Amino acid sequence: MDAVDPEPSAELEAAYSADPEIVWVDKTSPEWIRTSIYWRAKVFQREFGYDVPQWEIQGRYDPEALGYVFHDDDFRIIGAACFRPLKNSSARFILDWIWLSPKARRNGFVSRQWEEFRRRFGLFLIGGPVSESMLTLLRLRFSGHNITQGGMAEPVIPMEQFASVQETR
Ligand SMILES: CC(C)(COP(=O)(O)OP(=O)(O)OC[C@H]1O[C@@H](n2cnc3c(N)ncnc32)[C@H](O)[C@@H]1OP(=O)(O)O)[C@@H](O)C(=O)NCCC(=O)NCCS
Repeated sequence: MDAVDPEPSAELEAAYSADPEIVWVDKTSPEWIRTSIYWRAKVFQREFGYDVPQWEIQGRYDPEALGYVFHDDDFRIIGAACFRPLKNSSARFILDWIWLSPKARRNGFVSRQWEEFRRRFGLFLIGGPVSESMLTLLRLRFSGHNITQGGMAEPVIPMEQFASVQETR
């Protein structure tokens, strides 16, 4: 599955050359990139055993969701994140979820992007439940963010076993 073990994306490379902001994805973004976020949300859901993927391709019921696509130097789409604006909160945004493909983890991709997230969204909230790896990242590198209730969540499917349960797309 491309979300788990991505190949370089010529589509992303061409789109990024024309407009580097393509990696910020909302309901007006092209369907292919909205779909790429959906598949990452889907794998995140399965990895952690959640009920539903937290991203909707058409943006009909969740029109304010703002996605971000992580890519490497070869334009592999190596992960995604989803922010949502908040009302009645001191924080303006919440990071609802973030997921990197297994091989991309622990390479500093999220840490390198964090200051840009902070620049755009201020001291955003982190949507719980959080994973141990996310909690460690926050504690060691980016303290100051409040985490909403939800406790801890851990993977229910180790990524090395993922190939046996995935759907083909
Ligand atoms: C959590 C996640 C987004 C972190 O992204 P990442 O790009 O791997 O993070 P970084 O490489 O920037 O890690 C920075 C630091 O955080 C800590 N950290 C990150 N993952 C860790 C792990 N699995 N175990 C221990 N420490 C970890 C380390 O201190 C790391 O620095 P180091 O690698 O130099 O030791 C990514 O691992 C992921 O997608 N995990 C699965 C989904 C998930 O847990 N999402 C969050 C739900 S709340």
